[in-house]
Amino acid sequence: MSNYHIKNFEEYYLIYRKSLRDPESFWEEVAEEHFLWHKRWDKVLEWDFKKPDVKWFVNAKLNVTQNAIDRHLQTKAQRTAIIFEPNDPSEPVRYYSYRDLYHEVNKMANVLKHQGIKKGDRVCIYLPMIPELTFSVLACARIGAIHSVVFAGFSSKALATRIQDSECKMVITADGGYRGEKTIDLKGIVDVALETCPSVETVLVAKRTGETIKMQKDRDKWLKPLTEAALGECPAEIMDAEDPLFILYTSGSTGKPKGMVHTQAGYMVYTAYTFKNVFQYRDNQVFWCTADIGWITGHSYIVYGPLLNAATTLMFEGVPNYPDFGRFWQIIEKHKVNQFYTAPTAIRTLAKENLDYVLNYDLSSLKILGTVGEPINEEAWHWYNNNVGKKKSPIVDTWWQTETGGVMISPIPFATPTKPTYATLPLPGIQIALMDEHGNEIRENQVDGRLCVKFPWPSMARTIWGDHERFRETYFSTYENKYFTGDGAQRDEVGYYRITGRVDDIIIVSGHNLGTAPIEDAINEHQAVAESAIVGFPHDIKGNALYGFIILKEFGETRVHDNLRKEVNQLIAEHIGPIAKLDKIQFVPGLPKTRSGKIMRRILRKIAAKDTSDLGDTTTLLNPEIVQAIIDGAL
Ligand code: PRX
Repeated sequence: MSNYHIKNFEEYYLIYRKSLRDPESFWEEVAEEHFLWHKRWDKVLEWDFKKPDVKWFVNAKLNVTQNAIDRHLQTKAQRTAIIFEPNDPSEPVRYYSYRDLYHEVNKMANVLKHQGIKKGDRVCIYLPMIPELTFSVLACARIGAIHSVVFAGFSSKALATRIQDSECKMVITADGGYRGEKTIDLKGIVDVALETCPSVETVLVAKRTGETIKMQKDRDKWLKPLTEAALGECPAEIMDAEDPLFILYTSGSTGKPKGMVHTQAGYMVYTAYTFKNVFQYRDNQVFWCTADIGWITGHSYIVYGPLLNAATTLMFEGVPNYPDFGRFWQIIEKHKVNQFYTAPTAIRTLAKENLDYVLNYDLSSLKILGTVGEPINEEAWHWYNNNVGKKKSPIVDTWWQTETGGVMISPIPFATPTKPTYATLPLPGIQIALMDEHGNEIRENQVDGRLCVKFPWPSMARTIWGDHERFRETYFSTYENKYFTGDGAQRDEVGYYRITGRVDDIIIVSGHNLGTAPIEDAINEHQAVAESAIVGFPHDIKGNALYGFIILKEFGETRVHDNLRKEVNQLIAEHIGPIAKLDKIQFVPGLPKTRSGKIMRRILRKIAAKDTSDLGDTTTLLNPEIVQAIIDGAL
């Protein structure tokens, strides 16, 4: 029995127990057998959750791209590494073998070097889902530069904040991007962002849409002529196990986004391990994760996890409803996709459409279905299971986070019996704890609690870029010696976990994490606004949608309110991006506040959810009368 590939439920238990008994030799065995190291580690793990300080594979030396690419060239050079399915289905598909990938990444790495990028420099990647995105990510890893991919749906202000925070020296972008029928002026967004980003010396521009764009002399360079002139071989920089591999920003409940820092060896070992097991990947299968590489799911399960296993990974540029709602199913048929990994919001969106969109395509290649990013409701789970998986393909409901780097709780297909809406059991090496409101660990089953992890795992984020204290405070200060996830969870009678949602001020809308404070800050910039509070409310498709309660400086006439609503959403789109727009905006005379001046969001959440029968204790409010006024005006 190998630790690396779990094949049945009995093996899962045996391996899981082994990983608890002796986590260090467990991970050592995985690391030893499956990866290429320039120098072996002196120690598998050093940790202290108080500081917090976690190091895996201490003093080992490696390069992640040699593991994800070079290592496969001897026997699998001709295997397809990437299938690129363009937005427009009539445009030809592009296939990149592992040999092609090697040359593309090496050329790009040489370009970065020629442009002055060195080990440790930060490179911001703001690209649509085109192959250059994967090449850029891996080119950074090749030379030891730290990539910071920013989802190409973020606004110029949001992009600027992220570039400034990690002082990126370069931005890699495109002339534009396609999303269904729309084109997005990415270069224009970058130009505006860079007005406030003095650290950026160079902008490399990939050609995609062919739109006319402005190129700033000396700063902006077309990528293609540079890669064409570059050599297809670039020596891999030898990295320390704990050197940063990338920064990826995620929303915080307050303040600016948190630049989560992931390091080399632990991230590599864990994403490879989880990819292999959660998706039961076998040689020559085709794996498709529909996420964008701008999110952690794309980093770990479009790029790193699959390539580290010499898999064929599909990259899709477009959207599920273009040219029609059958697009996902058409792609599965066309490329004979074996594993399909998507988000509950996508499933709910597609389930609402005519079933013929699904039935028109041959989905018999599918073996495993996955979901991620938000709780999946029972109805969506069954729709996915019945119509897409035809009750033959297990659904892996994978719970994890940007911070965890890889999947933490998930069924192992064909091993763990699935249960609708349950992420089921922790993967080997993952020690979960549920905590009660007094800060004690709950040992029994059939309980609700706050979800923590009590032992380090290799791919956990090591810090927040430039703010270690915030890292400690956010994740390690709530419960002693535990990583607190910010999620609530239930444990059923057999020990299966079901994630119930965030217990902090982060709201997950269509699978995207949004902090309430940054949205409120954006709204408060409007000159007519005195104060605002955002809460989430249940939404059939998006899981949650946003409800804004806004106090105006002058209440004014109702007819101006519609304009104000538009302006508020416009401001949000400018500051954060269209994903953070509010579904409902109610102008209110006041907000329910505690005596210490804190907004009581619990009450607002109930009003937004139209569930006002039991508002709980409101006696501690400074202004209890306001509650009824808000209920009376609720939308
Ligand atoms: O609340 C959990 C939810 O998504 C949060 C993490 O979001 P992000 O860092 O953007 O990463 C998303 C992709 C890994 C978690 O704290 N979440 C993620 N997966 C699930 C989930 N909620 C319920 N079920 C899941 N499978």
